[in-house]
Amino acid sequence: MLDSGVGGLTVVKEIFKQLPHENIVYFGDTAHMPYGPRPHAQVRSFVYEIMDFLQTQEIKMIIIACNSATAAGLEYYKKKVHLPLLGVIEPGVRAALKHTKTNKVGVIGTTGTIQSGAYREVFNRLSCGDVQLFSHPCPLFVLIVENGLVDSPEARRVAEEYLGPLKDMGIDTLILGCTHYPLMSDVIQEVMGPGVKLISSAEETAREARQVMEENSLLGREGEATPHHRFFVSGPAKPFTDMAVNLLGKDINAYQVILPW
Ligand code: DGL
Repeated sequence: MLDSGVGGLTVVKEIFKQLPHENIVYFGDTAHMPYGPRPHAQVRSFVYEIMDFLQTQEIKMIIIACNSATAAGLEYYKKKVHLPLLGVIEPGVRAALKHTKTNKVGVIGTTGTIQSGAYREVFNRLSCGDVQLFSHPCPLFVLIVENGLVDSPEARRVAEEYLGPLKDMGIDTLILGCTHYPLMSDVIQEVMGPGVKLISSAEETAREARQVMEENSLLGREGEATPHHRFFVSGPAKPFTDMAVNLLGKDINAYQVILPW
């Protein structure tokens, strides 16, 4: 699994829950975080390097646990690797379509994700055109999360500013279209109010990962060796390790890998 930083850990947490017998190899590209404002071609070049590294780790599947990287070119990545590969956009859209009653859905994400139009494209394909989608970029959320400022007054102020326009649209479902955002879900929920369901793509992505592994006879089995997880980062290991331990409630160690390795 890969992300620009700690965001993909929201997907890891869900995989722990739904697929407890799997071994996870995680790469957080913290030296290049945030991905959101970068050109898509540059994000793709980072992802290619990470995928090359991950493939030295005896993996059986890749999850792009990052909306910005998924939006930058899921189809390109699929051409590069001969392993099952899953992004996080389709699973979130599917969950939102299942939930909405008003047929008005919002999506928030990084500037790169929102500007790519990737959500709109998947929505149009899966909703048969009868659901309205309202999108808004929230670029500062990633930095708030990575700097441990989720509970600060600044986080609340920024959330009010970003989410104000979406509140007026009458949406009943809001996709957190960035894997960092579930880590801010308390403040996002407070600002949006109890009538809006927040969709984190983590849960749906884990469900789809199970399906893909089942279809390819790749599922780990109970009773096989105790799962062993490995965490790598391109920046300093300590801040990532501290956040990961806190978030996952597990004692993990991350190791720094300089890319290209
Ligand atoms: N967690 C990421 C995403 O889902 C990356 C955010 C960023 O690096 O800008 O978009």
